[in-house]
Amino acid sequence: MASYDVIIIGAGPGGYVSAIRCAQLGLKTAIVEGRETLGGTCLNIGCIPSKALLHATHMLHEAEHNFADMGLKGKSPSVDWNQMKSYKEDVVGQNTGGVEFLMKKNKIDWLKGWASIPAAGQVKVGDETHTAKNIVVATGSVPSSLPGVEVDEKVVVTSTGALDLPKIPKKMVVIGAGVIGLELGSVYARLGSEVTVVEYMDAVCPGMDKDVQRGFKRILEKQGLNFIMGAAVQGVEASKTKAKVKYQPKKGGDEEVIDADVVLVATGRKPYADGLGLDALGVKLTERGQIATDAQWRTNVPGIFAIGDVIEGPMLAHKAEDEGMAVADVIAGKHGHVNYGVIPGVVYTTPEVATVGATEDALKAEGRKIKVGKFNFMANARAKAVHQAEGGFVKLIVDKETDRILGAAIIGPGAGDLIHELCVAMEFGASAEDVALTCHAHPTYSEAVREAALACGGGAIHS
Ligand code: NAI
Repeated sequence: MASYDVIIIGAGPGGYVSAIRCAQLGLKTAIVEGRETLGGTCLNIGCIPSKALLHATHMLHEAEHNFADMGLKGKSPSVDWNQMKSYKEDVVGQNTGGVEFLMKKNKIDWLKGWASIPAAGQVKVGDETHTAKNIVVATGSVPSSLPGVEVDEKVVVTSTGALDLPKIPKKMVVIGAGVIGLELGSVYARLGSEVTVVEYMDAVCPGMDKDVQRGFKRILEKQGLNFIMGAAVQGVEASKTKAKVKYQPKKGGDEEVIDADVVLVATGRKPYADGLGLDALGVKLTERGQIATDAQWRTNVPGIFAIGDVIEGPMLAHKAEDEGMAVADVIAGKHGHVNYGVIPGVVYTTPEVATVGATEDALKAEGRKIKVGKFNFMANARAKAVHQAEGGFVKLIVDKETDRILGAAIIGPGAGDLIHELCVAMEFGASAEDVALTCHAHPTYSEAVREAALACGGGAIHS
């Protein structure tokens, strides 16, 4: 048994980043993690392995579709799926090992096992009960399934199973055209699977900018993904090797059925805090089952804080990281702050999709007077050189009177990196003119951001 200033439960991006910041602030810190490796869902079975597979399969796509055009002749590579999976595992290992190194470097104790909180100020791991002045719950989320759909992680899988399928399926049905469905759907479409995405709404990525939704779907269709929109999945019947997905078209008509070798259920995630004993402690939850916190991540029980996917807000690693740093500041008696209005969202397909701030529709619904500046990557020299100009654009939404940037949406090469110029601009309350007057190197994708900013004023140059 040991005493700490802070014990953090959960070593995902929220928890481990929080632990490092606590240690940097001079707090005696421990982190509890029951998995064999640190890094949580993101590093082990989420963001990182999916990015490895997206990269590898993008390379395959380039070889199959664009190499010959660039004068790179010869047979396209064949896929060694087991080798691709070991490359993915190696990337995961490097990253989880990196987090372990950071824990040691910052003298943070890793308490191995699954935690419970017998009382405020106490954390039990295995047979040992440790004391802590402050406890931060950072236990994340797990996939949520649908009624009538039983996940076996073999034929009916969540993202976890989809990252580790024994073989590449001939036919894959993806339920849900959200981020997970489209990223992993892209991976398998590039590997040659016939991928059909069944989505309840009439657009992909619900909540995103409408232009992006339309353009993104068109691009994915060109890449071979099939979409059945406005269709509510009612259930999945699965045998050991096959499945039938039943869905009801929203516009009416009979129930329809599609066959699949593998069904990926990507219909969202739910907060996970099982086994902590929060009920007995009287920790309040929201109606959606998230841990309720105040603006400084305090729960209603003194000394217990919560951050990341287990509380309200977008389920994103970087949102959890920001909260992790901010809650450490609060615990250390400083001012911790997260600007929830400037949290980027990125889909790591090719091309990437990235958004930040308000959408055009939301602002119009509020009655706000806005201007929109748009620039197509078709007129960006660099994007053309890498076969990623088609269908992509940068869109800025700014206040009509003040020219202040309120939101941005990008489909295009490196969108997930480009968006940060606009995040910084928004954090500084910049106007589109500020971005337009900033020199951007040529030839870069960033020039499209500047052009969109110019389009909010006197007009883009290359359009
Ligand atoms: P999501 O909430 O993004 O999308 C789920 C989709 O399933 C929605 O479009 C919804 O309309 C649809 N759906 C729900 N029930 C349905 C039914 N019965 N029939 C047909 N369609 C149905 O959830 P997703 O993709 O599972 O992602 C979970 C979380 O993980 C999200 O919060 C996401 O932001 C996060 N994530 C973020 C990533 C990133 O930042 N690149 C990558 C992967 C996940």
